[in-house]
This record gives sequence, C-alpha cells and structure tokens, in this order.
Amino acid sequence: MNEIITITQNIQFTAVQAILEISYLLSAIFFVIGLKKLSHPETARNGNLWAAVGMLLATLATLILYRDAQGNAISNWIPMLLSLAAASFIGYYISMKVKMTAMPQLVSFFNATGGAASAVISFMEFGAIPATSYGLALVSLLGVFIGGISFTGSMAAYGKLDGKLGDYKSASLKYVNILMLLGILALIIYMVVGGDSSLNHTMLYVVLAVSLVYGVTFVMPIGGADMPVVISLLNSFTGIAAAMTGFLYSNNAMLLGGILVGAAGTILTILMCNAMNRSLLNVIIGGFGGSSAETTEDGGVVKEINMSDTAILLAYSNSVVIVPGYGLAVSQAQHAVHELDKLLDKRGVQVKYAIHPVAGRMPGHMNVLLAESDVPYNQLVEMDDINPEMENTDVTIVIGANDVVNPAALTNPASPIYGMPIIEAHKSKNIIVMKRGAGKGYAGIENPLFGHDRTRMLYGNAKDTLQKLIEEIKSL
Ligand code: TAP
Repeated sequence: MNEIITITQNIQFTAVQAILEISYLLSAIFFVIGLKKLSHPETARNGNLWAAVGMLLATLATLILYRDAQGNAISNWIPMLLSLAAASFIGYYISMKVKMTAMPQLVSFFNATGGAASAVISFMEFGAIPATSYGLALVSLLGVFIGGISFTGSMAAYGKLDGKLGDYKSASLKYVNILMLLGILALIIYMVVGGDSSLNHTMLYVVLAVSLVYGVTFVMPIGGADMPVVISLLNSFTGIAAAMTGFLYSNNAMLLGGILVGAAGTILTILMCNAMNRSLLNVIIGGFGGSSAETTEDGGVVKEINMSDTAILLAYSNSVVIVPGYGLAVSQAQHAVHELDKLLDKRGVQVKYAIHPVAGRMPGHMNVLLAESDVPYNQLVEMDDINPEMENTDVTIVIGANDVVNPAALTNPASPIYGMPIIEAHKSKNIIVMKRGAGKGYAGIENPLFGHDRTRMLYGNAKDTLQKLIEEIKSL
C-alpha cells in the first residue's frame, strides 16, 4: 500500500515538474516575441506587454508549481506575496510618476536593482555549494562579481544621467581599474580551484566589496558623450548576472530570461561601440574617449536669425532636414515639430528627420519621442543614410541637439568626442539651431557649428519657438 502511495506521489511530482518546465518554456517564448517586437517603434509597446506577461507566467508558475527535492511546495507565502506586492506597487508608482525626460535614469535604476538581486542571490548561495562543485562555485562568484558591478555601476550612471554626478577623469584610475579587474579575477580562480576553503567566507566579502567599488570607478571617468555605451554594457551585465542565478537555481525561466537580456545588451553594446567609434576593451577598463583636454572655441561669430526670416527661409526651401536632440525631449516639442513638418510638406517642401543613434539620453529616444506624435517612420532617416544628403539640403534645423552635430568630433583630435560619428549638419546650405542660450551638450564642450558661416541661432525654448514659427509660416 505504502509503495502505491509513493509511486502515485512520484508521478504527481513528475507531472507538476513537467508543467512547471512547460510554463517556463512558454514564458521564454513570450520573452523572445517581446524582444522581437521591441525592435520596432510601432510594435515596441506591445513587445513590452508580451515580455511582462511572460514574466507574470514564470512568477505564478514558480509560486504555484515549484517543489523542492522532498516534493514540498512553497510554504512561506506571506513574505513572498508581501514582497511581490510591495515591489509591484513601487515599480508601478515610480513608472507612472516619472517624467519622460527622466526615463533614462529610471531605466538605469531598474537595471541596478536587477544587478543587486543577482549579486545577493549568488552571494547567499555560495555558502551552500559543495567544495567539489567547481562549476557552481565559479557561476556563483561570477554572479556576485558581475551583479555587483551592474548594481553600483548603474547607480553611478543614474547619478550622472540625473546631473547629480559629474565625470571624474584621472589617468591613474585607469590603472587602478585594470589592477582591480585582474585582482578580482585571480581571487575568483583561487577560490574555485585551489583555495583554502576556510578563507572562502572572508574572500567572498572581498569579491563583493571590490566588485561594488569597481562598478563606480569604471563608470565615473566615462565622458558624457560615451555614456550610452556604458549603459548598454551594464544592461548586458545584469542579464548575464541573472543567467548565473538561473543556473544556480536550475531555473530555466531565469536562465533563459538572463541570457536573452545579456545577449540583447551585448549586441546593443557592440552597435553602440560602432556608432560611437569606440573599442569595447576601452569601455571595460574605463575612462575611454579622447583626451580630457577642453576644446578651444574656433573664433567663429555666433549669429542670430529672427522668426520671420526663419519662416521665409523654410517655406521657400525644397528640402529641410530636422535634427532632433535632447532639448526637443526636454521641451516636449514632438507634437509641435510634427505640425511644422506637415505644414512644410503641404507647401511642397521635402522634410526628413536625421536620427543620431545616441541623440537624447537613451537608445532610441528620438524614435520613441517622434512616434508619440505619429511622425511616419519613413521620414526618420538614420545617420549613415542622411549624411550623404546633407550637402544638397537647403536648410537643416537643429532642435535641442548639440553633441550629435558637433563637428569637433571630426576635426579636433583633442576633443573628448573625437572619433564619434555625427550628423553632418555643418555641410548643408543653411543651418538653423534652436536652443535656449549658450548651454552646452551632455559632453560639456564647445560646439564650433554655432559659429559657422552658414549657421544662424534661433534662441528660445524649442516648443515655444516652434509654435511661433508655425504661426509665422501660416501667415505667409
Ligand atoms: P545634448 O548634446 O545633450 O544637447 C542638448 C541641447 O539642448 C543643449 O545644448 C541645450 O542647450 C538644448 N536644450 C535643452 N533644453 C532645451 C529646451 N527646452 N529647448 C531648446 N533647447 C534645449 O543633446 P544631443 O545632441 O541629443 O546629444 C546627446 C548627448 O547625450 C550625447 O553626448 C550622448 O552621448 C549623451 N548620452 C546619450 C545617451 C543615449 S543612449 N542616447 C545616454 C547618455 C548620454 P541650451 O541649454 O542652450 O538650451
């Protein structure tokens, strides 16, 4: 009789396990569909939903179907549900309250929490790993290391994006970073393969502490314009750290989810490196970019243009290129700029938007912003495709952009942004720059474009200026 009961229990256990694994597989499929949809602005919102449903499925399946080795279900429901409810509420509340312009900081903050969670799990699990399980020990230590870097690095990125932290450039920091990186890798290898296991507990704290410090010291020296590469790299770190924890728990949903985020983040990092003309090795060691010398103003005279002259110039052009930047997002001028482009289009002017890969403060920032005002996607032209057309463009309007049109990136080897490809606005026949005053861009450097012969400045908040310009063109 007892045997029959045991066999029945075993069958039940196996069936529950199978349903759990199928649920994880399903959630992984949801993640993949979500990621695919995130690759285009039109489907991105939906993609987010798909991934969120996948995560919900994985969480519910774990709560309901998880059984430990003795076949026991989860029993500590109250703390589990309380933390889930608190985290969901905080996540929802912050996301609903955050301003669109603070979205990049929020993404960094959420990334930091992912890194922290993975580091904590890996840290706690290390003690439970048998001395001979070298593979698991390595995975656990890498989880602490990568998760720790991702946590403090993302918090430092949050501070920099929020303007609370500046760059900290120091030649010696680069060498300190290399030493820390090599030291920590050596320590991990020692702990995994031959270390004195009685010291492991202390050394684990050292690994955690150095990782946390390294996260900050590797992000701090990164020059403003190079931050996008770091942000996507930290994103991939969080994914990799999450995959490590999935491995530790033999949890396929965590493993697959982490691998997907890690791989997507790595691909984005490589794309960003190419877009910014930077090497990945330099990013990892920290403090990359050109020399820290300040650019010199090239002595060009900054000239203004008034509203009616701008209206006439635009209305009687054949081709206009709009270069949107961070200031467009700050002033929430996306609807006004679309109204302007429709107005010009009605007058027979061909209007295109030139999209720089790092314009704004997060990958795809301009695409998301312009999608909000229903600018057709075929009007958005990538940097490499628009640059050959710049010479034949009648007027280029730079709206709240600065670093992404700074010709110093092409001509001044002393500039911190030297080597970064730009939208070549300076090549067009006329350039109008809309900004509020003499404010610098994120990289904090002078822009010789503003003193260029063919450039005219139209000062003011982008949204107000655009609204006035629209009225002026209507009155022509
Ligand atoms: P920025 O170089 O940051 O320049 C923005 C310009 O907008 C400023 O010069 C500012 O001048 C003007 N501005 C601000 N508020 C405005 C308003 N309300 N109305 C009109 N103008 C306004 O922008 P960008 O050209 O888009 O370049 C982005 C920079 O951020 C790059 O250096 C990039 O590397 C960095 N970054 C990007 C990301 C990603 S992933 N995209 C992430 C982190 C950092 P005034 O103050 O004079 O108005």
